[in-house]
Amino acid sequence: MRKVYFDHAATTPVHPAVAEEMMKYLTEDFGNPSSIHAFGRVVRKGVEHARQQVVAAIGASSVGEIAFTSGGTEAANMAIRGVAYANRHKGNHIITTAGEHNAVLGPCKQLEKEGFAVTVLPLDQYGLITPQQVAEAITDKTILISVMHANNEIGTIYPIREISEIAKERKIIFHTDATQTVGHIPVNVDELGVNLLTFSAHKIYGPKGAGAMYIRKGTFWQPITYGGGQERRRRPGTENVPGIVGLGKAVELACENMKSEAERLSGYRDRIISEVLDNIPNTILTGHPVNRLPGHVSFCFRFIEGESMLLMLDMKGIAISSGSACTSGSLEPSHVLTAIGLTKEVAHGSLRLTMGKDNTQEDVEYFLEALPPIIARLREMSPLGEGCNPCACSTCTIHDEEHDHGHGEFEEDEI
Ligand SMILES: Cc1ncc(COP(=O)(O)O)c(C=O)c1O
Repeated sequence: MRKVYFDHAATTPVHPAVAEEMMKYLTEDFGNPSSIHAFGRVVRKGVEHARQQVVAAIGASSVGEIAFTSGGTEAANMAIRGVAYANRHKGNHIITTAGEHNAVLGPCKQLEKEGFAVTVLPLDQYGLITPQQVAEAITDKTILISVMHANNEIGTIYPIREISEIAKERKIIFHTDATQTVGHIPVNVDELGVNLLTFSAHKIYGPKGAGAMYIRKGTFWQPITYGGGQERRRRPGTENVPGIVGLGKAVELACENMKSEAERLSGYRDRIISEVLDNIPNTILTGHPVNRLPGHVSFCFRFIEGESMLLMLDMKGIAISSGSACTSGSLEPSHVLTAIGLTKEVAHGSLRLTMGKDNTQEDVEYFLEALPPIIARLREMSPLGEGCNPCACSTCTIHDEEHDHGHGEFEEDEI
């Protein structure tokens, strides 16, 4: 059976050239980069080369602005909590958006428990916020604004420059979570006008467990973990050297091929979007129709459960994901889909398909052939069909609003 991996926003395979580079640092060059002997020095060189590769990829001014982390989540925690604690004397107010990944919402929620006030801006139907919304939310206590560069679930790209200009005017620190954009679309810290930017290696054919935080020189910030002097004391602990060199190589390769790859994947994306919207009724495209990530397609199919669709596509060898995150341990529909105004029932019929470097036109055609009969079959069997009045809770098939749901709460764990 054909195998089609369409879940690149969740993770990507490690590029062979990245794996080769990493292997060297797992075997021959195993020293501790803090050691001053030859074994350590050669490894230090590898780490600093990776830092240069990141500087080049995002247009930073110097290697001193890059700290390596264990991934996008740790980097966002460092950015948000590090700014909050360091600027507490100036104010306690943070602004973010309802579309953020939990890597950003999680630390914001924690900061709220610690006495900070967080404004979460609502999204429009495309998942966007306006610069005006940001301007109106600012108070004299605002110390940080955090808006993602592109949304992982619905692919919408945000007008970061326009928003960061407002932050700059009001002298407020600005962070963007660029986990879904670095290596996919142009990312330049000066053009975006950000103070902090965070991303992860495993979305760009690098290893899992490696990421980076960019921090503009002069940004008021403090570490959130303490220990040794590694990473200029910003992220203490012996460095994950294979992960760091893998990230450096991955970001370099992704940027080399970015333009042609983005064009190719946008072509696939647009074909899938128009074919599906033309041929499958009761389908909603989620996210922005134009300002969206190149290989990113997301829909909600009415009267369908995302998990069943995911499993039936899986039986055809096609790997996609659904925002109705049963598969990721949660019974709640995605917070992003409800934030763009979809009801729980509609949000439960979501599908996210994210393409990458090994996908071909044949994969696209295979998917387009496989999908319609699956949707038709599921709709035939569906208790959520037109005319029904299903329970608002997606996992139940009982058409009675009053019954005892009996399922426990799960922590969201989204990708
Ligand atoms: C937008 C966004 N931010 C942050 C993360 C977290 O990155 P990591 O898995 O490296 O912790 C992800 C990963 O799914 C993401 O999509």
